[in-house]
Amino acid sequence: MPTSSTNPHLPFGENKNAEWYGKDIISVKQFKREDLEYVFGVAHEMRGMVERIGTFDLLKGKILANLFYEPSTRTSSSFTAAMERLGGSVIPINEVKYSSVSKGESLPDTIRTLECYADVIVLRHPETGSAAIAAKAARKPVINAGDGVGEHPTQALLDTFTIMEELGRLDNLNVTMLGDLKYGRTVHSLARLLSQFSNIKLNYVSPEILRMPKEVMDEVAEKGVPQAEFNSLEQVLPQTDVLYVTRVQKERFEDPADYEKVKGAYVIDPDVMKAAKQDMIVMHPLPRVGEISPDFDDDPRAAYFRQMEYGLYVRMALLAMVLGKA
Ligand code: CP
Repeated sequence: MPTSSTNPHLPFGENKNAEWYGKDIISVKQFKREDLEYVFGVAHEMRGMVERIGTFDLLKGKILANLFYEPSTRTSSSFTAAMERLGGSVIPINEVKYSSVSKGESLPDTIRTLECYADVIVLRHPETGSAAIAAKAARKPVINAGDGVGEHPTQALLDTFTIMEELGRLDNLNVTMLGDLKYGRTVHSLARLLSQFSNIKLNYVSPEILRMPKEVMDEVAEKGVPQAEFNSLEQVLPQTDVLYVTRVQKERFEDPADYEKVKGAYVIDPDVMKAAKQDMIVMHPLPRVGEISPDFDDDPRAAYFRQMEYGLYVRMALLAMVLGKA
């Protein structure tokens, strides 16, 4: 939809002068540092409201279409929970094979259909750029919930919110990203977002065939952020403030033999973590498939389950913002 805050097609009753009213959320490139501070402020409020009263009526009468062409547990259910905590309701399309997509309906036509019934559309799709295509077709706000190996902006927002809540800062951080950095859209978005902060150092630890894409590294380098690539975690773990672990994504490999070569390349367990600081955190967008041992889950540095909960508050904030209620 148009990124203007005066979209005439959106319903009355919202603050149309609010900066994020009616906007799509497609990429982290839309978020400057002051925008992040605003999102985090609203997310804080949401957290307090959920803790105090659970569910409230900020978005009563609003409808979210949750359109997922790829599997999801966290993103799909946290957007549903976010809308329902805010008093709104949800059209869930988690299995597109049961929708008219299976009859060959195009993405733009599916979006045009859903916006007849909903006020905001959340989209996960296997193709990079699909969220931008959907946003172009839509008059209502579209939120990118992951487009292929492109971006996962709401995950990066909840990741940075997690770092802020857990460590109290987003400047002066040594961040190590580990695992599948080629296909992992969450690390692409997070590296871009963190590059806005001061005195950030990014370490990329991965097998040779799963390196961080050059396009992402070039964008980060333009912001003057030092980046370095490693094969082994031991080289950087002792200095790391945030260890961001990712799953090797079997479903993205063209040749299954390549997956077999790199699966299980890195495993975080209590023994490995002896080399890390005590005042650091371990994050993971989840799901995990063996790259973090459950034996580490009770360590206070294991922030990945808390990270999922922060996602609820951030997604509540984003829904309220694009619907003019924040
Ligand atoms: N982190 C994340 O995107 O998880 P889901 O695939 O379960 O949504």
